[in-house]
Amino acid sequence: TAGAGLLVGAGAGVAGAVAYDRPDGDTAANGVAAGGGALGTGRVPFRGEHQAGILEPQQAGVRLAAFDLADGAGRDGLRTLLQRWTRAVDRLTAGEPTQEFDNQVALDAGPCSLTVTLGFGAALFDRAGLADRRPAALEPLPAFPGDALDPARGGGDLFVQIGADDALVAVHALRTLQKLATGTAALRWQSAGFARTPGATARPMTGRNLMGQIDGTNNPRPGEDGFAAKVFCTAGGDQPAWLAGGSYLVFRRIRMLLDHWEELPVERQERVIGRRKSDGSPLSAPAGSGEGTAVDLSAQGPDGGPAIPSDAHIRVAAPAGNGGAAMLRRGFSYHDGALPDGSPDAGLLFLAFQADPRKGFTPVQRKLSRGDGLSRFLRHEASGLYAVPPGVPAGGYLGQQLLE
Ligand code: HEM
Repeated sequence: TAGAGLLVGAGAGVAGAVAYDRPDGDTAANGVAAGGGALGTGRVPFRGEHQAGILEPQQAGVRLAAFDLADGAGRDGLRTLLQRWTRAVDRLTAGEPTQEFDNQVALDAGPCSLTVTLGFGAALFDRAGLADRRPAALEPLPAFPGDALDPARGGGDLFVQIGADDALVAVHALRTLQKLATGTAALRWQSAGFARTPGATARPMTGRNLMGQIDGTNNPRPGEDGFAAKVFCTAGGDQPAWLAGGSYLVFRRIRMLLDHWEELPVERQERVIGRRKSDGSPLSAPAGSGEGTAVDLSAQGPDGGPAIPSDAHIRVAAPAGNGGAAMLRRGFSYHDGALPDGSPDAGLLFLAFQADPRKGFTPVQRKLSRGDGLSRFLRHEASGLYAVPPGVPAGGYLGQQLLE
């Protein structure tokens, strides 16, 4: 069937890409004892070739946070901090309390598929005396039309993406990292997001965002030709050797103008994206054909016009029209209550991993911000670009490749 084999696990896109021992969420719904329960026992290895939290299916919840390095901490302070964080994350991802700090918050829980993914912001390199190691591709993202960015909710020297199938576990991990950073790095911003909880649907499916769209269908998939080259860096050109096996992460806090969006009839909403809300099938194929059906951008609709409108999001964002630009999207929804005007403060914590943002996010967003039908319903409110170091080697520490 359409989409078969793509859709194992919770969230969008990369679901099913990597097998790890997260058990079937349905069992967890039966209320098995915490920690020993099915969902709680899921464990993602922290160490490996690439950092965890890139290829794995999205967990039910995420905490994003960025820290700024304290004046005077320097390279040695940074190394000590990363070693401390590594010791902690080793234990937390195993569902064990850390030795250096514990507040008993996660005592009864298992690992809950916890992942902690680290990124370095551009300013870190100067602060830590590592300016000669800053990748050229970490240059600031350009300003895009319509940007309404709050610098206090983006950027930062050290970024962490903390995903877990239990909110307490994720919050506990963030609190632990913050405590261990005392005196070396201060929290700059944090955001909380969510994706579908494993086991919430009768069968594993690609997740939906807060506009109600199936989101994550046309993501690059491990095993596909050229996947690694799209997502992971290799040394050479102006890419530094220390980043080989790493990636770049673009973060955008994108508010959805939901009051406005929800006034549109479903058929109009579908034309904004180019896919149906019911099953994610492209408008170039019959309804019910499923999200896995190939998109045909040249197909005509009944009125003789393009079946997928000229400003449809999937047409404007498609790699074919952007010099092959590709990225692995792994965003989470957020919902932070209401703004003073009563509209929802809600949207997407857009996260995209790529081998080079100059060839991935930037050209695509440049085009989207000018001619995408969806942009009318969005407001980009915060932004970050981070170099994501490669995986943590056995016996080594997080980010050590930069400091060696
Ligand atoms: C595809 C939603 C922002 C890049 C899609 C799809 C949806 C969607 C529903 C179709 C299903 C899929 O393939 O995943 C959204 C929403 C956004 C947003 C709600 C903001 C809140 C962005 C941004 C970028 C982007 C900022 C990059 C700059 C893409 C790409 C595709 C895509 C590359 C796949 C296009 C293809 O079919 O080849 N998005 N998107 N999206 N989106 Fe977005």
